[in-house]
Amino acid sequence: MSTNSAAWLPEARSDVVVGPAEMPVPGPGELLVRTRAVAVNPLDDVKQWTGNLMYRWLPYPAVLGEDVAGEVAAVGPDVTRFAPGDRVVAYAVGMERGTRHRAEGGFQSFVVVREGLTAPLPDTLAFHDAVVLPLAVSTAATALFQRDHLALPHPTPAPVGGRGTVVVWGGSTSVGSNAIQLAVASGHRVVTTASPRNHERMRDLGADLVVDYRDSTAVDRLSEALRGDEVVGVLAVGTGSGAAAVALAAATGARRVALASPAVSFASLPRRGGPSVTAALTMTRLGASTALTQLTARRHGISARFVWGSALMTNEVGRMLWHDHLPRALADGTHRPAPEAEVVGEGLESIQTALDRLRAGVSAKKLVVVL
Ligand SMILES: NC(=O)c1ccc[n+]([C@@H]2O[C@H](COP(=O)([O-])OP(=O)(O)OC[C@H]3O[C@@H](n4cnc5c(N)ncnc54)[C@H](OP(=O)(O)O)[C@@H]3O)[C@@H](O)[C@H]2O)c1
Repeated sequence: MSTNSAAWLPEARSDVVVGPAEMPVPGPGELLVRTRAVAVNPLDDVKQWTGNLMYRWLPYPAVLGEDVAGEVAAVGPDVTRFAPGDRVVAYAVGMERGTRHRAEGGFQSFVVVREGLTAPLPDTLAFHDAVVLPLAVSTAATALFQRDHLALPHPTPAPVGGRGTVVVWGGSTSVGSNAIQLAVASGHRVVTTASPRNHERMRDLGADLVVDYRDSTAVDRLSEALRGDEVVGVLAVGTGSGAAAVALAAATGARRVALASPAVSFASLPRRGGPSVTAALTMTRLGASTALTQLTARRHGISARFVWGSALMTNEVGRMLWHDHLPRALADGTHRPAPEAEVVGEGLESIQTALDRLRAGVSAKKLVVVL
């Protein structure tokens, strides 16, 4: 087998640097995957940019990266669903607490992934297209199906419909584009928000109605359109979407809101450690907005909880998604990789370019690097 390399984050707030890495060995329930494509997520950017504000347990040098697609190079003991040579897409969880941080980080040529967070890829699906899925689809599934979030019934091969309406605020985000498809697959009508340039895309993914989230009357327009519907839950994706989602839930009688994004953006935080006025203001605004949203939710009897996309690693949602639903839905084309991939470059060296591009902002696109 060849040697391994990784895009290392040497320390907080530095660029990633490509260098040699140990060849990881898959343990029980694990696969070693030869990575052919990776995608970048806001999570990677936030970790790189804000140092130890999040994921403070991650030791440096660190290997970030959650989205991988490639070929199985070896399997650990007890693995039955996959064999060397299989084409797969997988959620790499090296950033999560209690994992093998370096072996399971996605930004490397050979990565260890878990059998329970891996799906086979049909031959018709290219690695660079499928790699948009893992963190986004996992977060969407956690938000929609976990019992303490929206607790929706699980998707079925032939959804029966008539199970009420789900609102996905931020449908053109990666999480939102997957949530629309999963909510439709579990028999729900979906209404969503996005910029007008993405409305057609949202309808294409299965949304019934799309409203511009920047329109100051968006909550009113949606509540009006939803009059008479049974709204079973609201998923809030996008900075600051929580307050709008709770207002909409209060107006429509929904009792469950799943919050995927923080109330304020961390983008303006300075790229250096230590105290700063901007950091203090950002954290104060975060605390105040979060508290206000929670207070409003409580007043209306709404449960509004933050989603942790990796929670499905240890519950029934993970098995439903990665073992049952995705293999079937990718094979029959009912779950499409979305948003669309844009290949930014080739080789681990292009990962920093992709991260810089992501920081500048994307619209209904996932930035991908092929290896
Ligand atoms: N909690 C978790 O476990 C978890 C996991 C993954 C992601 N997230 C969070 O979920 C959010 C989305 O992540 P992603 O990877 O899905 O994002 P992404 O694909 O990078 O998001 C880009 C999209 O965001 C939309 N957008 C920007 N601001 C918005 C707002 N205020 N309301 C609604 N939509 C907005 C834009 O829509 P238009 O172009 O249509 O304007 C754009 O298409 C981020 O905040 C991320 O940190 C959380």
